[in-house]
Amino acid sequence: MSVQIDLSNKTALVMGVANGRSLGWAIAEQLLTAGCRVGFSYQGERLKGELDKLLKDREGVWTQQADATSEEDLSALFARTKEEFGGLDYLVHAIAYAPRNAMEGRFVDTTPEDWNTSLHVSAYSLVAICRHAEPLFREGSSVVSLTYHASQQVVPKYNVMGVAKAALEAATRYLAADFGSREIRINTISAGPMRTIAARSIPGFGGLYDKGARNAAFGRNATSQEVGKLALFLLSDLGSGVTGQTMYVDAGLSIMTVKED
Ligand SMILES: NC(=O)c1ccc[n+]([C@@H]2O[C@H](COP(=O)([O-])OP(=O)(O)OC[C@H]3O[C@@H](n4cnc5c(N)ncnc54)[C@H](O)[C@@H]3O)[C@@H](O)[C@H]2O)c1
Repeated sequence: MSVQIDLSNKTALVMGVANGRSLGWAIAEQLLTAGCRVGFSYQGERLKGELDKLLKDREGVWTQQADATSEEDLSALFARTKEEFGGLDYLVHAIAYAPRNAMEGRFVDTTPEDWNTSLHVSAYSLVAICRHAEPLFREGSSVVSLTYHASQQVVPKYNVMGVAKAALEAATRYLAADFGSREIRINTISAGPMRTIAARSIPGFGGLYDKGARNAAFGRNATSQEVGKLALFLLSDLGSGVTGQTMYVDAGLSIMTVKED
């Protein structure tokens, strides 16, 4: 079922589309279908080709390289956003990274370097991005990011990324408080397991995905389209009054312990 909503006078920046399976792309598709004007940022030049392919037949879109840990890149990205759009209604943060070795061994062995990298890219970047975006936000602007239930319960091998997601969820509440007086809303979507590049880099993800499908209340995993629809709700005026929240779209996985056969 498609959701009918008109965002033709709105503007959005989507950060973190690597390919057509990216959750950022599932959200962008909903925004584009609703008529929103969308700009995209990508981490590095090696990802540009894939994004250009996805956007080939789309009108009024633009792209710019920006590493989320580079203040210089973020300044340039938001200068471009101002030039293209004047202001910004919606911001999508779909960015996370942890070094592979931090997700292979025991959590207790996390190095300070891997901790800092993971928390910087996956959590602090949301804070930095909101700070850069602030002058462009309008009353009613809205931000969504993506988190995962490993922030609340131990998921084997997720390790420092679980800590980064807990930081992202807490940062969401503090940002929502900072921006609340202008009714700018900041929320995060907790998605169930989905087959993306980032997910594939998690050791044992295949098993986690299959177990998720078996244990979820629906007997299947949620889809990236369902993530896109929740994001559309949270970003648009349908979500007015909702801020600082972590909202789950996981086909009822996190509510279960182990399902009966
Ligand atoms: N796939 C899942 O199962 C799942 C579940 C819950 C939450 N999430 C979250 O969804 C978000 C999007 O991930 P995805 O699963 O779509 O994978 P993905 O690999 O498609 O997207 C991750 C993106 O992060 C970008 N990125 C990494 N480091 C960056 C940096 N320094 N600067 C700028 N961009 C950077 C990558 O270039 C990529 O575009 C992440 O926050 C992820 O943790 C994913």
